[in-house]
Amino acid sequence: MKITRIFTAALAALGLSGAAIAAESNGHEVEKHDWIFNGPFGTFIDGDNNERNSVQRGFQIYQEICASCHSLNQLSFRNLGEAGGPFASEEFANPNDNPVVMQVAANWAYQARDVDTDTGEAIERTPRVSDRFPWIFENAYQARGTLGALPPDLSLIVKARSGGADYIRAFLLGYTDHAPEGVTVGPGQYYNEAYPGNIVAMAPQLFEDRVEYADGTAATPEQMADDIVTFLAWAGDPHMEARKQLGVMVLLFLLLFSVLVYLAYRQIWENVEH
Ligand code: HEC
Repeated sequence: MKITRIFTAALAALGLSGAAIAAESNGHEVEKHDWIFNGPFGTFIDGDNNERNSVQRGFQIYQEICASCHSLNQLSFRNLGEAGGPFASEEFANPNDNPVVMQVAANWAYQARDVDTDTGEAIERTPRVSDRFPWIFENAYQARGTLGALPPDLSLIVKARSGGADYIRAFLLGYTDHAPEGVTVGPGQYYNEAYPGNIVAMAPQLFEDRVEYADGTAATPEQMADDIVTFLAWAGDPHMEARKQLGVMVLLFLLLFSVLVYLAYRQIWENVEH
């Protein structure tokens, strides 16, 4: 790695550099996007009154589109209403009482599955706030059989892919109708410019107006990609805001502490020749 790259990466990590540095994913360059959660002060808040509009819209996309194939099995419904979550509310500090979260769980399109401890059979029931998001498929075998490939769990996908959020966005927007000459795209396969290897078993999903946003935002493919990736970034790191806040406090403390130590040093050595 060249020293300039290390330097720009360090600057980018600190969020000090406004320059667009192309992120890299398996040798592919992907377009760098300006995310609200980037940098040491980045949060998921984008409304004037601490609303998390983009994360909320992203959840709508997951619910209405992605959930018909992909699991999100590291998350429970209650996480949506916890501090920093899309439906966090000051009024309902306990997410179990949050009416939005309760409604999402009760109306989830797929049933929760318990195992009958006597017979070993699965019992389906309406999901509760404390449940993980139930998956449409019973298991990976069924998913692969139905879709021709296993859709990866999306809970940690932003962290799991090199290029992170920028790559996932590029992937969702990377479909083209025409594969380059000489490339054969088989049945059930699609050509995607961002996907390593380019041939993927997931059909393009983000068409103009595919969803009707609850907040009236125009549902362009780019808008939908930004929102679902912001939601997935939150899902993979739900305590990011608290962590960053603590980091800033620690740095402030260290700064103050250094000043105190320096003043103490001056005072102790004040009358000593050195
Ligand atoms: C009709 C089913 C279906 C839907 C709907 C769907 N996907 Fe997929 N997705 C798949 C399958 C199948 C794969 C695995 C493709 C493969 O391995 O070739 C996949 C793969 C992926 C990957 C992994 C790409 C990689 O680099 O490995 C991501 C990210 C992804 N999907 C995100 C999404 C998002 C976000 C949505 C909602 C906007 C969505 N998918 C909707 C079926 C689906």
